[in-house]
Amino acid sequence: MKKILSLVLALALVLSCFCVASADDVKTYKVGVSIYQYTDNFMTLYRNEIEAYFKTLETDTVKYEITMADGKNDMAEQTNQVQNFITQGMDVIILNLVQTSSADAVIDQIVAAGIPLVLINREPLAYDADGNTIDEAYEGILDNATVCYVGADARQSGTYQGQMVADLDNHGDINGDGKISYIMIEGDPENIDAQYRTEFSIKALTDAGYEVECLDDQVGNWDQTKGQELCANALAKYGDKIEVVFCNNDGMALGAATAITAAGRTVGEDIYLLGVDALDECVEMVKAGEMTGTVLNDHIGQSHTAVDVAVKLLNGEAIDNYYWVNYVMVNKAYVDAQ
Ligand code: GAL
Repeated sequence: MKKILSLVLALALVLSCFCVASADDVKTYKVGVSIYQYTDNFMTLYRNEIEAYFKTLETDTVKYEITMADGKNDMAEQTNQVQNFITQGMDVIILNLVQTSSADAVIDQIVAAGIPLVLINREPLAYDADGNTIDEAYEGILDNATVCYVGADARQSGTYQGQMVADLDNHGDINGDGKISYIMIEGDPENIDAQYRTEFSIKALTDAGYEVECLDDQVGNWDQTKGQELCANALAKYGDKIEVVFCNNDGMALGAATAITAAGRTVGEDIYLLGVDALDECVEMVKAGEMTGTVLNDHIGQSHTAVDVAVKLLNGEAIDNYYWVNYVMVNKAYVDAQ
């Protein structure tokens, strides 16, 4: 009996040592993530993938505790969230800014708190001494070894949109009057993505030697309902004159598609429709000929890059200041080849 008792005690001792040791060995990193707005279609895919990918990187000894916050498209709200992240002692912050014009203030606070920062999706714009934006890297990112930006160059996505129209047999000139008459539905004009896609989709056409006519250019703030409303208004006003509908993203293109159908028009026959993001629904529509084309905005590549670089920062490794993920043209030829 004594023997059994001492054996049990010895076993308990060994087990307790083992448990204490393993608990000590587990490192849990606190990650604060704030997304500019949860209702955004594309950023929903992106944020879900951030969480899912962090999970795949967990081991027996490394865990990630993620606190995700909805910026509700309100910079004051997001600033509060950042302050809470600092107070809660986050080990790293991943931030999709509501307003890139607030980047300096936010970066300063986070850097002062000694927390590394990964900015995603909304690239802060560099500006000159007069406050005008310039096409250069952002000093607040370049000057800080623990701050970086992960994104995609929106010039590429805009160019692909224009090229998909140029590649059509009639080059988007359905009525044969020698010019491509289009409407543009823009995302939030403060975002470089909206600015570049608007500019470079058209530049691709004019660079290729085509004449263009802008019938209407309105701001839909990346939003599906707004896209539908703006497209319906334009169709009511300009009717058959509209040959191409350019939308800065797929959310608004989905709305535009509803308006196009309601107006009795048919994509691929008497009108063309372009978006960006390659949401699953839109890829299906391209396949079915219900959308002329979209551009893959690689949320998997971007979220994984953002998480990988966050992990590097947690490990104290050196990082680059900028990470770029490529866009991919998604037209009928592309989906048929998949
Ligand atoms: C873009 C994306 C849009 C929207 C926007 C938010 O890259 O194409 O759908 O998510 O980011 O800033």
